[in-house]
Amino acid sequence: MHQEGERQMILVIGATGNVGGAVLAQLIEAGQKVRVLVRDPAKLGELGGKVEVVKGDLTKPETLDAAFAGVDKVFVVLAGDDLATLAGNATDAAKKAGVKHIVMLSSSTVVEPFATLLGQWHIEAEAKIKASGLAWTILQPGAFASNTLHWVGSIKSQGVVFQPTGDGKSAPIDPHDIAAVAVKVLISPGHEGKSYVLTGPEALSAAEEVAKISAVIGRPLKFVDVPEAAAREGMVKAGLPEVFIRAVLEAHAMVKAGHGARITQTVEEILGRKARTFDDWLKSHGKAFQ
Ligand SMILES: NC(=O)c1ccc[n+]([C@@H]2O[C@H](COP(=O)([O-])OP(=O)(O)OC[C@H]3O[C@@H](n4cnc5c(N)ncnc54)[C@H](OP(=O)(O)O)[C@@H]3O)[C@@H](O)[C@H]2O)c1
Repeated sequence: MHQEGERQMILVIGATGNVGGAVLAQLIEAGQKVRVLVRDPAKLGELGGKVEVVKGDLTKPETLDAAFAGVDKVFVVLAGDDLATLAGNATDAAKKAGVKHIVMLSSSTVVEPFATLLGQWHIEAEAKIKASGLAWTILQPGAFASNTLHWVGSIKSQGVVFQPTGDGKSAPIDPHDIAAVAVKVLISPGHEGKSYVLTGPEALSAAEEVAKISAVIGRPLKFVDVPEAAAREGMVKAGLPEVFIRAVLEAHAMVKAGHGARITQTVEEILGRKARTFDDWLKSHGKAFQ
């Protein structure tokens, strides 16, 4: 049992990535005791010097015990195309180590009526966590504002964004807000057994996002709603794996069909402040498009 005031050990998996990196930074800022499980410690940069670092890989169960030993709570990002196996490996190691609460990053595709490969992968991963017997919380964010960074290349070279989403809207969420919710869920009680659909505060089409980027960088930009076949061809040429191409195209088709625009108040309800807007995100990341 922990004495009152004693800090619990929180393990972060995915700390070299987008959301996990923000979770790590915010946990450190909050003065929490943190350990990370990473495949490549060098990728942590200066944050690596501020936490316990254990090398491991979620696809290799034999590398997990050292990272999970003595851990009270876990935040886990699942990346790849076999999320259920990764979730199963994480929950097995967590159960063995006596972890009290696991917080998993999933996706709002799980709750959309439009079936996607991504949604199916996350549904299977969520099932593993829910069947594990551990206390769990599942975060189901919609499209990240940072997805627009995929446009940097064509914006810089041609001043154009090509995407097969038509007028379809999404409600981009700042990964910083997803991380803030994760931290709140990890360090305050009452979130066990809950799934939270997290979105940004406004629904925007890709053309509207492009117009906002254009205003920030002070250059005219164009949005082109390319046919799906052309988007596929571009990704094939770029050497992306077929399963990834299918997942991305399905996500775009979901948005085009009008199933990406859901807005929830959950970020504000949990954090007690407004969710950040796409303009807020652009204030800190807009220079990437210059
Ligand atoms: N983008 C969106 O709009 C969106 C929306 C909803 C949900 N999601 C979900 O969010 C997740 C992606 O989050 P993100 O953008 O933060 O990902 P990310 O930036 O790609 O980071 C993935 C992290 O997972 C780590 N990782 C990958 N494979 C691993 C393994 N086998 N063992 C241990 N660690 C491993 C990576 O480590 P390395 O540095 O070693 O690669 C990295 O730290 C996915 O599950 C995605 O479906 C995304």
